[in-house]
Amino acid sequence: MVDRREFLAAAALAAGVGSAQAAPQLAVNGGTAVRAKPLGGPNWGPEYYDGKEQRQLEEVLEGRNPFRFSNPPDKSKVARFENEFAARMQTRYGLAVTSGTAALHVAMAALEVGPGDEVILPAWTWYSCYNTVIQAGGLPVFAEIDESFNIDPTAIEPLITPQTKVIMAVHLQGNPADMDPILALARKHRLKVLEDASQSVGASYKGKPLGSMGDIGIYSLQQSKTITAGEGGALVTGDPYLFERACRFHDVVARKDFPNKLGYIPGLNYRMNEFTGGVLLAQLRKLDTIIGDVRRNARRVYSGIRDLEDVRQRRLPDPQGELGTGIFLGFRTKEDRQRYADAMKAEGVPVSGPAGSVILPVVPEIEQKVTVTPRWPSFNSDRGKSIRYGRECCARTIDILSRYAGVMMNPKYTESDTEDAIAAVRKVYPAIVRG
Ligand SMILES: Cc1ncc(COP(=O)(O)O)c(C=O)c1O
Repeated sequence: MVDRREFLAAAALAAGVGSAQAAPQLAVNGGTAVRAKPLGGPNWGPEYYDGKEQRQLEEVLEGRNPFRFSNPPDKSKVARFENEFAARMQTRYGLAVTSGTAALHVAMAALEVGPGDEVILPAWTWYSCYNTVIQAGGLPVFAEIDESFNIDPTAIEPLITPQTKVIMAVHLQGNPADMDPILALARKHRLKVLEDASQSVGASYKGKPLGSMGDIGIYSLQQSKTITAGEGGALVTGDPYLFERACRFHDVVARKDFPNKLGYIPGLNYRMNEFTGGVLLAQLRKLDTIIGDVRRNARRVYSGIRDLEDVRQRRLPDPQGELGTGIFLGFRTKEDRQRYADAMKAEGVPVSGPAGSVILPVVPEIEQKVTVTPRWPSFNSDRGKSIRYGRECCARTIDILSRYAGVMMNPKYTESDTEDAIAAVRKVYPAIVRG
């Protein structure tokens, strides 16, 4: 809950109190809707498919060697993708894998997370983050999020124990986690940092690409992400030891050209094939165009609602670096958020709550329906039994998630689409906060 007076003051500002203009009637109350066809856009990457992706696929077909290691490294599309991806992310090494989940699993193996080790991660993130810690035999420890929807750096230190090995910073929905205090904490306690930039491929924090600041960065290249071949993932690191461990774990027999200093590592198979590598190579070369387009649209909307911004906007630790995936505004209560969602839908500009997952007992406030009863060895230790995954660990996370909603942005929106988004927010938001 947020103080009502703060909202009233902001609503007065937004509505231009003092002017003689009457507020337009909301569509939800019988007024005219801002637009007839609901605003919504397709997945980003596939909208940019053209002859470049097609040519890459044709070359793989013509070459008849879709297995990456049947091609010399200077010819393999996967190898070229890895090199260009690492360069774009300003890191030394890149490894292509089959998904973001695979990249997280590989990262756990590289960081040597195993039985008894604890990984601190945000209570609000994607299931894969939690699942891969468990698959590695480790114990996930939830930290509260803040109003950026990412891990709250001030919530981390009280959770650190002698068993803590890794802090996982997840950059959700285009918005960088606040890395400076996280990296400082990790240095102080000699912990590793794993960055998950799956939902924010191409975004940056204070000029540094997401994924390049921690010990390892991972990315999903699945269809709903910035660039895609339908499925795919990538891992970057500046550390040759971690890179070698990652390479060996991702390929059962470790074919990747790398000096074998580490001996046998019982790896799995998360190798990318050449078709995927080719499409991702073409997509990677369009990454900055795609994020430029979505940022342009988001900035139009931010600037069109600038006088609402001080009200309660999602916290942006680096507004220049975020992608602008969604224009999220906050409300005092879950009920106000629902009224906003209903009214925006009626205007033809639907909004969504923050997207992610949280492993908790059923939480009606955020329509969370997943129930998890952990039956895994790591949960049977005394420490495991002491961990709480329900409301006790993250009441603030649930509160924040239940009070925010955003208009989702798309790189292909036209100027008129963004004007509609601005018009709807300006019409509805003040009406909701005034009550
Ligand atoms: C934050 C985050 N991490 C990891 C993943 C897993 O990626 P994938 O679906 O490619 O396995 C996702 C997927 O949505 C995600 O959002």
